[in-house]
Amino acid sequence: MKNEGNPPRLKELIPAGEIQRRVGELGDEISGEFSQILMENDPPLILLGVLKGGFMFLADLARAITIPVEIEFVSLSSYGNEQTSSGEVELRISPPIPLKNRCVLVVEDIVDTGRSLSKLLQHLRSLGPKEVRICAMLDKPEARVVEIQADYVGFTVPHRFVVGYGLDAAQRFRQLPGIFLLQEPRE
Ligand code: IMP
Ligand code: MG
Repeated sequence: MKNEGNPPRLKELIPAGEIQRRVGELGDEISGEFSQILMENDPPLILLGVLKGGFMFLADLARAITIPVEIEFVSLSSYGNEQTSSGEVELRISPPIPLKNRCVLVVEDIVDTGRSLSKLLQHLRSLGPKEVRICAMLDKPEARVVEIQADYVGFTVPHRFVVGYGLDAAQRFRQLPGIFLLQEPRE
């Protein structure tokens, strides 16, 4: 596919249409599996979006899920404006949500080193939920430092910096509907 309309540093990796198709599949899979886990009188599944990167994926995934859901957000940050993870993960959940006996699906943009999700999961599990699963739009398995695996993954990507569909480089490119490799000027 030609990219003449894109800014020159970006190379398309996953087109928008492909993402939408995959989100539809994930929505079906998640709806089917959680409808088995949730009992008739249980409160709805909580979709817990990880800000900021997960905002676009959460918006699309929520519309592809056919069982009742509640929507909450957490804010995690590890990267600052650098492209390599600092290793420090700051966790902000505000206001605190009671998760006791609830089913929670964490909706994340990408699993890279795994540090953010592992810290978030540790926290969520301490709150006594009935079930916690992870849905990540992208998985970068070669970058993993902490052993963690998402239950639902949109696409596996190479160990390269990607932007678009919620993912940023110094806060830019989040609004792109597809996923792009951010190339060095000489590439
Ligand atoms: P972690 O290294 O798995 O903890 O990833 C932390 C966060 O870094 C992810 O949720 C993303 O928001 C961000 N991140 C990781 N890889 C990329 C990338 O290739 N592009 C943009 N953001 C990324
Ligand atoms: Mg993120």
